[in-house]
Amino acid sequence: MAERLLSGTLSQPDVALELTLRPALFAEFVGQPKVKERLEIAVEAARQRKEPLDHILLSGPPGLGKTTLANILAKAMGANLRSTSGPTIEKAGDLAGLLTNLEEGDVLFIDEIHRLQKTIEEYLYPAMEDFKLDIIIDQGPNARSVRLSLPRFTLIGATTRSGLLTAPLLTRFGIRERLDYYGAEDLQQIVLRSARLLAVEVNPTGALEVARRSRGTPRIANNLLRRVRDYAQVRGDGRISAEIADRALAILEIDQNGLDEMDKRILETIVAKFGGGPVGVNSLAVAVGEEPDTLEEVYEPYLIMEGYLKRTAQGRVATALSYQKLGLKAAQGNQPGLF
Ligand SMILES: Nc1ncnc2c1ncn2[C@@H]1O[C@H](COP(=O)(O)OP(=O)(O)OP(=O)(O)O)[C@@H](O)[C@H]1O
Ligand SMILES: [Mg+2]
Repeated sequence: MAERLLSGTLSQPDVALELTLRPALFAEFVGQPKVKERLEIAVEAARQRKEPLDHILLSGPPGLGKTTLANILAKAMGANLRSTSGPTIEKAGDLAGLLTNLEEGDVLFIDEIHRLQKTIEEYLYPAMEDFKLDIIIDQGPNARSVRLSLPRFTLIGATTRSGLLTAPLLTRFGIRERLDYYGAEDLQQIVLRSARLLAVEVNPTGALEVARRSRGTPRIANNLLRRVRDYAQVRGDGRISAEIADRALAILEIDQNGLDEMDKRILETIVAKFGGGPVGVNSLAVAVGEEPDTLEEVYEPYLIMEGYLKRTAQGRVATALSYQKLGLKAAQGNQPGLF
């Protein structure tokens, strides 16, 4: 259950919920003040000059607001948003089709842009830089390259793994912003806002309890709020207090620090099966039954930020905090000097 809350694969009602709760304006977008200010300035400046926005790359772990910001940016520019994603662009022709259908000022949003094939990526370079597209027509001896002019558009790329982007692509984004995990107060505001939209009664401490245990992630906060709402409805009087939230989250096996079953399984595995580490991500992934990519994109960043894990050249290492969490004494002699 908790795994699904994190995995990013949402069921139908969850998708609908995300759309309802997704802020449409900068004013409704909570937190990330520096990113927000820089983007608002970019929008205002482009609007004053009556130019399209510069290309923007948004990176950061899942559920922090990349797609939300892309929508807000397009709306603030009064531009149409066309959405696609790296893996769905299979042939150069797919990209050509998207680009040639754009109108002046449109925003093309490419989600998971790190998963774009290298050969397709190369078509993007002149498109981003000079608004030109080189297409090859005909085959064999008659093959020739034709250069098409494109309308001036804005590319917004989103990625959970900016480290996987090639330098030529990375440097063609004039604006690059990284979203970070949200603090509990910001998440509390998000929970209160979502509760209002869902017409659920939640008091400030109830909202804070959900916020504190949402792994710094708005999507998780919204999902947990919904589960807590279910609990409050069935086992309480429908209102969410800190106590109700705590009981509901206990049933979901989300602990006091917001770690879920998979987080705990990861820490336990490193400690129990790999002597505290170092262990490579592939061996760890097999041992916990998860994809290496998911470990790296979804689980590890939070565990590292919270100080449970360290990434070293040799692999992942459990810290003293992990041992403490598991109720064990740190590194029983097999990891001298690590703690
Ligand atoms: N700053 C914010 N303020 C309020 N709600 C937010 C904020 N950021 C995200 N959300 C909520 O979290 C949900 C998930 O955000 P979003 O889809 O933009 O994440 P993402 O970064 O695109 O994730 P992924 O990498 O999985 O595509 C949104 O639908 C919205 O309800
Ligand atoms: Mg997204």
